[in-house]
Amino acid sequence: TAGGTREALDPVRYLGNRSSGKQGIALATAAAKRGADVTLVGANLEAEAPSSVRVLHVGSTLELASAVQDVAPGVDAVIMAAAVADYRPEFVADSKIKKEVAGDRVRNPDILARLAETRRPGQLIVGFAAETEPDRDALLALGRAKIARKGSDLLVLNRVGWREGFGTDDNSIVLLDRLGDIVMEASGSKQTVADRILDAVVARLA
Ligand code: CTP
Repeated sequence: TAGGTREALDPVRYLGNRSSGKQGIALATAAAKRGADVTLVGANLEAEAPSSVRVLHVGSTLELASAVQDVAPGVDAVIMAAAVADYRPEFVADSKIKKEVAGDRVRNPDILARLAETRRPGQLIVGFAAETEPDRDALLALGRAKIARKGSDLLVLNRVGWREGFGTDDNSIVLLDRLGDIVMEASGSKQTVADRILDAVVARLA
């Protein structure tokens, strides 16, 4: 998956995030180059995927969840690079909401945690964690807590901020395994980072 989900509030507004989809597209592209049969579930992508990748376009978290649920059972590895909204409005207004009206929100399903719970033997599940924590040790602690909570096999931890991570062409990541150990660190273009992540994925699939 790639991009960022958007939750409609009314016909003209949504709750969303600044993920462009570039890192997820780079992963899909690199996997296709290696001969993988790739389906990219893209949420509001700001960049284009090459024709070697089959793209399913989605908007909201529930749409992403449904597309992933259809595709995941048939694949060897799932890489959840999309930034997913944790909440959605309980009701979507049919007309533009006026400022005095505030609605309730409900939790979205945790797609990654569910994938990890229901994975078939041998299937590899990779999560992402975008965090704004500036301190390296505190960032690693957040990543370790997240992979333990989500149950994925690997977690790509990256720092995001006003000027880093989302929307940029470069990235800097730490890959953690289920024990919270550092598998590798990579930085450079999102293509370079994608290839390093895929090296680790392929080693585990083999
Ligand atoms: N994710 C998901 N479903 C959600 C939320 C997140 O599948 N409802 C996935 C993302 O695609 C990513 C990983 O979980 O691979 C971590 O996402 P992140 O937003 O960093 O974590 P959260 O679960 O939102 O945790 P927190 O808000 O505590 O940081």
